[in-house]
Amino acid sequence: MDTLDALKTKYLSKIEGAGDETALEEVRVAALGKKGEVSLQMRSLGQMSPEERQVAGPALNALKADLTEALALRRDGLADAALNARLAEEWADVSLTPRPQQQGTLHPISQVTEEVIAIFADLGYGVAEGPQVENDWYNFDSLNIPPEHPSRQEMDTFYMHREAGDNRPPHVLRTHTSPVQVRHMEAHGAPCRIICPGRVYRADYDQTHTPMFHQVEGLAIDTDISMANLKWTLEEFCCAFFEIDDITLRFRASHFPFTEPSAEVDIRCSWEDGQLKLGEGDDWLEILGSGMVHPKVLSNAGIDPEVYQGFAFGIGIDRIAMLKYGIPDLRAFFESDLRWLRHYGFSPLASAG
Ligand code: PHE
Repeated sequence: MDTLDALKTKYLSKIEGAGDETALEEVRVAALGKKGEVSLQMRSLGQMSPEERQVAGPALNALKADLTEALALRRDGLADAALNARLAEEWADVSLTPRPQQQGTLHPISQVTEEVIAIFADLGYGVAEGPQVENDWYNFDSLNIPPEHPSRQEMDTFYMHREAGDNRPPHVLRTHTSPVQVRHMEAHGAPCRIICPGRVYRADYDQTHTPMFHQVEGLAIDTDISMANLKWTLEEFCCAFFEIDDITLRFRASHFPFTEPSAEVDIRCSWEDGQLKLGEGDDWLEILGSGMVHPKVLSNAGIDPEVYQGFAFGIGIDRIAMLKYGIPDLRAFFESDLRWLRHYGFSPLASAG
C-alpha cells in the first residue's frame, strides 16, 4: 500500500508541476497510459491471490480515479491560464476611430424620384415603366402626333441609326415619358392610376437643357374624372413635395396633341438676391404639362373613350429638384463632379417623402 501512496504523491506533484498542456499529457501517459506505472500495477492484479486482489483492486481503482480527477482539474486550470494570457496579449481598443470607409450619397434626381413616388403612392398611384429606346408609334403616332406634325421636329429627336436597306419603322430615344401611358393602358386597361418616372432624351444643351433629363408621367383614367380632379391632384402634389401650404399654381391654356384641353402649370415664386422663394412674389416658373387625355389616345390604347376619360401630366423631375433644393445649373446634375455630389447628395438612410 505504501507504493500506491508513493505513486499518488509522486504523480499529484507532477500534475501540479506541469507547466502546459503538453507537459500534462506526458504525465498522464507516464501514469495512466498503456505502459504507465499505474496501468502496470493494474495488470499485476492478475497474478495476485484473491485475498490480495480484494485489497489492492479498490486501492488501485481509487488511485486511478484520484489521478484522473487531478489531471482534469489541472487541464482546466491550464486552459484558463492560456486563455487569460491570450486575452491579456491580444486586446482590441474599441474606442479607436474606425477606418474611413467610402460613403456614397443618393443623387438628387434619385432622391426626388423617391419623394415623388412616395407622395403619389399615398394618393393611390402605382409605378409603371417603359423602354427608353422606343418606336415611333409609341413615342409619336399613338399619342396623336402624326408624321408631319410640327412637334415632331420641335422635340429634337434622337433617331437610332439604320443600315441602308433596313426598312423597319424608326426607333428613337424616347422624347418624353408619355409613351408609357399607351403601353400601360394597352397592357392593363382602365381604370388606372399610375406614374412613370424615367429618363428622356432631346438634342438640346444649355443652362436649362441637357440631352438626357428626367420626367415623371402621371395618368388617371376612370369613368368620372374631370379637369377639377387634375387641378386638385397637382396642387396636392406640389404642397406635399415643396412642403409649403400656400403654394399658388397657375394653369395656362396650352396645346399638346395627346391632351384636350391642355394646360401648362406654373408655380408662383420670387427671386430675391439670387434666392428663390416658392409660394410668394410675382414670378412664375413652369414645372409641368398636363391635360385631359385625348380620345384618340385612349382608343389607340384599346380603351373606349365613350366610357372612360381621365387626365395626364408630365413633370420635369430635374426642374422640381432644382427648385426644391436650390440647385442653380441643370448641367451640374450630370457632370459627376464628386464635390458637387457630396454637397447636393442625400444620405441613403434618410427616408423619402
Ligand atoms: N409629354 C409632354 C412633354 O414632354 C408633357 C405632358 C404629359 C403634357 C402629359 C400633357 C400630358 O412636354
